[in-house]
Amino acid sequence: MLLLTGGAGFIGANFVLDWFKSNDEPIVNVDKLTYAGNLGTLRSLQGDARHIFSRTDICDAAAVQALFEQHKPRAVVHFAAESHVDRSIHGPGAFVQTNVVGTFTMLEAARQYWQGLPDDERRAFRFLHVSTDEVYGSLEPADPPFSETTPYQPNSPYSASKAGSDHLARAYFHTYGLPVLTTNCSNNYGPYQFPEKLIPLTIANALAGKPLPIYGDGSNVRDWLYVGDHCAAIREVLARGKPGEVYNVGGWNEQSNLDVVHLLCDLLQARRPKAQGSYRDQITFVTDRPGHDRRYAIDARKIERELGWRPAQTFQTGFAATVDWYLANQEWVADVMSGDYLKWVETNYQER
Ligand code: NAD
Ligand code: TYD
Repeated sequence: MLLLTGGAGFIGANFVLDWFKSNDEPIVNVDKLTYAGNLGTLRSLQGDARHIFSRTDICDAAAVQALFEQHKPRAVVHFAAESHVDRSIHGPGAFVQTNVVGTFTMLEAARQYWQGLPDDERRAFRFLHVSTDEVYGSLEPADPPFSETTPYQPNSPYSASKAGSDHLARAYFHTYGLPVLTTNCSNNYGPYQFPEKLIPLTIANALAGKPLPIYGDGSNVRDWLYVGDHCAAIREVLARGKPGEVYNVGGWNEQSNLDVVHLLCDLLQARRPKAQGSYRDQITFVTDRPGHDRRYAIDARKIERELGWRPAQTFQTGFAATVDWYLANQEWVADVMSGDYLKWVETNYQER
């Protein structure tokens, strides 16, 4: 049994769906269902006894402890977080609460449970903490990519709260011997990503004939990884990673935001041509994000050397698959783009 947190969100849900394609080990999926959590993503698992869903806040220590006692997991895969940088600028409190206090609560409940396990189960237990490359700060164009030993220099409330959670995860290994593994991954894209993030937002706005907002001049660089590749990396680290170690996960795929949006426009144009002009005409440059990190890039040689993982998708194949998925799943997109989503669009874009 795996105890997984945040499995109704983008990456967690992809992980759950991928897991059951090749594995019958059950998962208890612990998610508070914030605006970013969507059970519709997991509809195909309805009635599947392998998937147990629990609507629980990871900051609720008693509830989390009860889940450990009830389900007796052999491992935790911890995805749950507040994950959007722009939201962290408008409301950092929720990020400190879920990312720092929530991770602490998970680690503490895991430690209590793990200490009571018989020797062989205690040795085999794993706590995999899923984190981000944003904890390393921002690179200049000529800097080498982030490695596992790059000093932490988080710049946003989001990355600072994730950095805090990474430090706690590290401390639980060093202080208590809890078998913690940490992954720091670059920007993900793919099916079921909430349309507040650049790629799904661009696809949704392009199809709706709305402006495609580019912060600043569009030259900020991100290292894009297909979500299925990230999930494969997490499975490898869970199976064969060494407790106490950190693994950087990236796509070897640095792109400027403008290049990303251009490619998405061109993929859409080829599939659903606009009657007049091109989707690129909808690009609108808007006021930059405060403290906007210039460049992220991951040196993913350690996970390749030690665990044999490399991304399977390229920029071209992964982006084409993603555009195809969004075109084929407009209902999912329409479902999540209501209520709270509309309020967010007003908050983030009206004053830019
Ligand atoms: P997401 O925002 O799509 O999903 C987060 C999920 O966590 C949601 O289902 C939400 O309901 C749940 N959640 C939030 N607060 C909770 C709480 N207090 N208790 C229980 N559940 C709660 O995020 P994502 O993009 O899937 O990211 C998952 C993890 O991967 C995060 O830890 C994030 O920092 C990390 N990460 C994301 C990326 C990326 O590009 N998206 C890249 C690297 C690392
Ligand atoms: P995002 O998807 O929010 O991920 P992150 O900030 O975690 O990297 O943004 C990716 C990049 O796209 C980032 O440089 C900010 C930029 N961006 C825009 O230019 N316009 C937008 O509307 C959004 C949401 C992001």
